[in-house]
Formats: sequence, C-alpha cells, structure tokens
Amino acid sequence: MIKDECYVLSNGVKIPKIAFGTWQVKPGDEAYNSVSMALKLGYKHIDTALAYENEESVGKAIKDSKIKREELFITTKLPSHIKTYEGAKEAFMTSLKYLDCGYIDLYLIHAPWPWSNVGEDCTKGNIEAWKAMIELYNEGLIRAIGVSNFRPEHIKPLVEATGFVPHADQIRFFIGNTQDEVYNYCKENNILVEAYSPLATGNILNSPEILKIAEKYNVTPAKIAIRYCLEKGTLPLPKSTHEERIKANLEIDFELKEEDIKILDKVHNPELDRKFRS
Ligand code: A2P
Repeated sequence: MIKDECYVLSNGVKIPKIAFGTWQVKPGDEAYNSVSMALKLGYKHIDTALAYENEESVGKAIKDSKIKREELFITTKLPSHIKTYEGAKEAFMTSLKYLDCGYIDLYLIHAPWPWSNVGEDCTKGNIEAWKAMIELYNEGLIRAIGVSNFRPEHIKPLVEATGFVPHADQIRFFIGNTQDEVYNYCKENNILVEAYSPLATGNILNSPEILKIAEKYNVTPAKIAIRYCLEKGTLPLPKSTHEERIKANLEIDFELKEEDIKILDKVHNPELDRKFRS
C-alpha cells in the first residue's frame, strides 16, 4: 500500500511517498489534532517549517503518538529570510528544540529569497546556509538536506560552491502547474521533487478534465490530483484538517492509465501557473 511505500534519496535514505503537510495549520489544538489524526491514520512523513510556527504542536503530537522515532520521517525548513551560516545553525537548533525529536530527517532551505523580497539575489547567503546544513548533515543531526522553491539557477551555485547536490527540492506542483524546467533539472540530477499544494490548495478540484477522470476511476478529484503527483515520481504533501480527508488523501492505491496522464498533462490554468506560493 502507498502509505508503506518509500522513495529512495540519492544518499540511500528512504522517504515515505506521501507526506502530511502542515502549512497554514494553526499552532496549538489544530496542529496537534491534525498531526495526531494523520499519524493514527498511517502517515509516516510529517512536513512542517519554523515559519509555520506549529513545530511545537507537531512535535508534541509525534511524541504522544508513541510511534517509534525511526519509523517516522520529519521534514522542517530554514526560514526564507535567514541567509547566514550562524543564522542557519541557530534556526536549525530552534526547530530541533521545538520538535524535540532527536534529529531531523530532511531539512530544507525554505526559499531562495525572503518571502518579503521575492526574486532578490541571495546566492551568497544561500551558499552560507547550505554550508551550515552540510555540517549538520555530516554531524548526523540531519539525514538529508535540500531546498524548496529553488529553480536550477538557485541550485547550481550551491553545487558549484560545495560539490553537494541537494537531496530534494520541494516546489509548488500540481496538475496544470508542473514547473517542467525545475522538474526536468531535478530528475536529471537525482533530486527528489516534492509536490507542495498538490490540490492547488483546493483550487483544481472543480476542473472539468479532472472531474471527468475522477468519474472514470470512481474516486474523488483530490485522489486524482494526488495520484498524478505520484505518477510523475514526485512526493505529494496534501494538507487537511478534516479526518475523512486526511484518511482519503493517503488511500491512493490505484494507477492512472497513460492516456489519462496525457490528458492531465495538458490541463492548463494560467491563473494557477505560478512558480511558488506567496
Ligand atoms: P481542509 O483543511 O479544510 O480539509 P493543498 O494540500 O494543495 O495545499 O490543499 C489543501 C486544501 O485542500 C485545504 O483547503 C484543504 O481543506 C483542502 N483539501 C484537502 N484534502 C481535500 C480533499 N480530499 N477533498 C477536498 N478538499 C481537500
């Protein structure tokens, strides 16, 4: 079953194929309850970020689940405005303290620029942060490191400066917004693409093409959207605060036919075709 399946990162680390996303999940009861539900329903991979301000609640839900730490995969992220070596180390230790889970499985640079100044050239700062992350990785505090919202022009300088290729790039990816240039670059360089907003935050679920295919497979449009990400070899991070949806989003044990994937490949909604979420 998909909930037990993993991708293998370029360093050999196994990463569960579907993650439970916690963006916009409020700290406190909402984060605690939804992560607790997700863990109870079988999610093995939880994705959070220092910027989501819910790490403490996420960590508490993980601890209270009593699931063995080594059976879980926890991703968190370096805030987008922190672009120094010292700042990266400090932010990582803060996340580790909040999550209180011993080590982080995957640590990502949240964005190539601060969200307050999208497009700013932060190459120097990204390299500094990347060096700090490589050290934390070599010390065994992180099992894999990567980036988020990075395009090839942001990734290349990191590799040139350090020789260290990110293990993953988490990008906004869903039917009609597949960021082909980033996707192909990652595939060519053995970088796992993680798909955030696989449901376009709910905005693609009424698309006529998706509805038609959902009817054909007798599943919901949300399942088609999540399955599409898996068919593309990406790792979807669906988010929900409702138990029945959290459950349904992990039950993706069907396959899309090639002809239907081709139809979905052609879906295009220019309004949704943004590269990142802000
Ligand atoms: P809710 O949290 O109220 O369930 P994305 O993962 O692309 O960011 O999308 C998340 C959005 O999609 C949330 O608003 C969530 O709402 C909604 N959502 C999550 N799962 C489903 C589902 N299975 N069916 C319909 N909407 C969903």
